[in-house]
Amino acid sequence: MIKAGFSPSALPNSGTVALIIADNKLGHAGLALDKATDGAVSRALKAQKFVGKLGETCSLYAPTDKFERIVIVSAGKADKIDDLALQGAGGCLYAALSKGKTKKVAVAVDADGKSRKHNALAEVAYGAVLRSYRFDKYRTRLKDEDKPQLAELTFHGKDAAAAKAAYAHYDAMAQAISFTRDLVSEPPNVLYPESYADQIAALKKLGLKVTVLGEPEIKKLKMGALYGVNQGSIRKPRVVAIEWHGAKNKKDAPIAFLGKGVCFDTGGISIKPSGGMEEMKWDMAGSAAVVGAMMALALRKAKVNAVGVVGLVENMPDGNAQRPGDIVTSMSGQTIEVLNTDAEGRLVLCDVMTYAQRTFKPKLMVDLATLTGAVIVALGHEHAGVLSNNQKLTDQLIAAGKSTGEKLWQLPLGDAYHRDIDSPVADMKNIGSAREAGTIVGAVFLERFVENGTPWAHLDIAGTAWAYKDQPTCPKGASAFGVKLLDRFVADNFED
Ligand code: BES
Ligand code: ZN
Ligand code: ZN
Repeated sequence: MIKAGFSPSALPNSGTVALIIADNKLGHAGLALDKATDGAVSRALKAQKFVGKLGETCSLYAPTDKFERIVIVSAGKADKIDDLALQGAGGCLYAALSKGKTKKVAVAVDADGKSRKHNALAEVAYGAVLRSYRFDKYRTRLKDEDKPQLAELTFHGKDAAAAKAAYAHYDAMAQAISFTRDLVSEPPNVLYPESYADQIAALKKLGLKVTVLGEPEIKKLKMGALYGVNQGSIRKPRVVAIEWHGAKNKKDAPIAFLGKGVCFDTGGISIKPSGGMEEMKWDMAGSAAVVGAMMALALRKAKVNAVGVVGLVENMPDGNAQRPGDIVTSMSGQTIEVLNTDAEGRLVLCDVMTYAQRTFKPKLMVDLATLTGAVIVALGHEHAGVLSNNQKLTDQLIAAGKSTGEKLWQLPLGDAYHRDIDSPVADMKNIGSAREAGTIVGAVFLERFVENGTPWAHLDIAGTAWAYKDQPTCPKGASAFGVKLLDRFVADNFED
C-alpha cells in the first residue's frame, strides 16, 4: 500500500497535484490552483459539466508548462459529506492517480464536510491508502509499466499536525486490513491450518499472546465437531487464541471475537459443484477478520481486554472424510448428526465457542463466519447478517457498522427455527429440514452452544467478505470485512 504524509505548506505550483472538493465548487486551495493555471481548472470543470457527485473525477494534463497533471475529485454534496464520503473520495482519487506515471503526488482537501467526525485530511488519506492495496506476490512477470507507480501521497493543509495525529489510528487499521486481505487472498496450497497458525503466531511481536492448539490438544479437549470437519484433510487442524490485555485491570473479563477459518471448503463428501469452487479459499475470511481486528487493537494499544479465537481446518473429501449420517460429539458434550458435510462452518465454530467460553469467561462474544450462501440470497453483497441473543449488543454492532461502512442487517432467531434442527437420533442435526431460512438455521445451531446466557452475536459475512468489483476504498478481492467494524465496536463501547 502507498504511504501517506502530511505537510502544513500550501500545494506546490508544479508537478502533479490533486484536490478534493465539495459539490463542484473550488475552495481555498482550488481557487489558488485556478489562479496559478490562469483559470484552466475552472474551465476544465465547466467543459466536463462536472456536477460534483461523490467520486466524480476531472483530470487535466499539462494545464501550464509547470504542472504535469491536476486531478480533482468531488466528495459529493457539501451537506452530506461525512467521514465515509471523504474516505470514498480518497479512494477514487487513488484510482485516478494510479493510472498515471507519477510516484509522489501532493493533495489538498477543500471539502471540510459538516457531518464528518474526524480530521478531513486523515479521512481522505485513509481511503486512498486502503484503495491502493494489491496482492501481486505471485505475479512474477508483471512489467513495471503495468504496476501503479504511485508510492506516496502528501496531504497539504494548515492542520497537517492534527491530521498526522488523527492518522495514527488509521495507519494501524491499514496495516491490519492489509494483513487480513493478504490472508484471505493467499491460495489454499499456501495457506492451510498449520501455515496459517504460524502466520498468526508471528503477531507475538506486537505484544499479543498467541496460543496454538495442535491436533493432540484438540483431541484432548474433545472438539469432535471441529475435528470431524478436518478428518478428510492431510493437513492437521489448529485452534488459535490471540489475547490482548490492554485494560487498566488486566484481569477484567475480555470480549471475545471468534472466527470460522475453513482454509478450503470443497463441501467434503457433500461435495460442491466444481464451477467457482476456487472461491472457497476465502472461507476463512471470518477468522482473518478476527486476526486483523486483534492486530489493530495491539498496534493502537487499545485500552481493552480482548481475545480472538479461530478454528482452522480444511474440508476435504477423502477415504477418511466424515460421512453424511455421522454423529459427532462436540466439546460441549452435545451430539450432532452431520447430515450435510458442507454445513461445516457451524461444526467448527461450535467447538470454538465452547473452548472460548470455558477458557476465557468472556463478557460477550461476536463470531464472524462465511457461513451460508443463504445470506447472499437474502442481503446480497451490501449487508452482512447479524443474529444475536442480545439486542443491546446487536445495536452496538449495527452502529459500529454504520460508521465504518461495514453494514449489518438483523435477522431473527426463535424457537420455531430451533425445532428445525432437532434430530431423531442426536441432540441436533447440522442442517434444517428444508432449504428455507438457511442463515437463521445456521445461527440457531450456534446459539445452542452459548453458555450461561453470555451475550453473543453472529455475523454471517458470506456476501461481504469478497468484493466482486472495485469499491471506493477496496479494490476487487478480499475486503477484510469486519476489521473496521470490530475495532470501532471496541473503541465506541469498551475502552477505559
Ligand atoms: N462456505 C459455505 C458458505 C458460502 C457460500 C460462503 C458461498 C461464501 C459463498 C458454507 O460452508 C456452506 O457450504 N454452506 C451451505 C450450508 C447448507 C449445506 C445448509 C450453503 O450455504 O449452501
Ligand atoms: Zn460448506
Ligand atoms: Zn464453508
